[in-house]
Amino acid sequence: MMITIAIDGPAAAGKGTLSRRIAEEYGFHHLDTGLTYRATAKALLDAGLPLDDEAVAEKMARNVELAGLDRSVLSAHAIGEAASKIAVMPAVRRALVEAQRAFSQREPGTVLDGRDIGTVVCPDAAVKLYVTASPEVRAKRRYDEIVAGGGSADYDAIFEDVKKRDERDMGRADSPLRPAEDAHLLDTSEMSIEAAFQGAKTLIDAALQKKI
Ligand code: CDP
Repeated sequence: MMITIAIDGPAAAGKGTLSRRIAEEYGFHHLDTGLTYRATAKALLDAGLPLDDEAVAEKMARNVELAGLDRSVLSAHAIGEAASKIAVMPAVRRALVEAQRAFSQREPGTVLDGRDIGTVVCPDAAVKLYVTASPEVRAKRRYDEIVAGGGSADYDAIFEDVKKRDERDMGRADSPLRPAEDAHLLDTSEMSIEAAFQGAKTLIDAALQKKI
């Protein structure tokens, strides 16, 4: 009996850390669906192909292998920007959503995080979370992450990026970022990851009880 946890939210809201924590706790498989859009974008960039040719981008999307997604290679800022550009294309989304849905069926359970998991990819997920935080807090987290990794960063530029990315993700016609009607909202602006995890755990335990 398989169970799916859907986690959506804007850039740098803390979905990734929370999803990995949940997957570890319950022994579920985890897929960061953002990496599938990033891998598609990177394939185009590496091949020197344009980011605005839907047929070419779809072909790259169909070649993405979920087992080969490497966060450290795909985390570059330019790849994230390119990913949110090709993510507006319906043919790209269809191809990646197909692979994501197949992944979501794995036993004994799965955690998928992204922008449209509760609304489009897994509308029947047992638990849906919409994780958010103010743009200021999210920009600060990104900034801290980069500095902790030994890089140098400009907070104001990151803040502008976060707002631009939100506009693109929430404003697109196909699968815009928004909470599913039955999603639980988790605002982590003033909440530690641990507190967010405890909140999520209560909801998931209740859903597991119902399934037995
Ligand atoms: O890590 P970060 O929040 O910067 O972004 P990501 O989750 O790696 O996703 C990169 C981009 O892919 C997002 O800005 C979205 O435009 C797109 N994406 C999407 O459209 N649908 C998803 N399920 C996941 C990501």
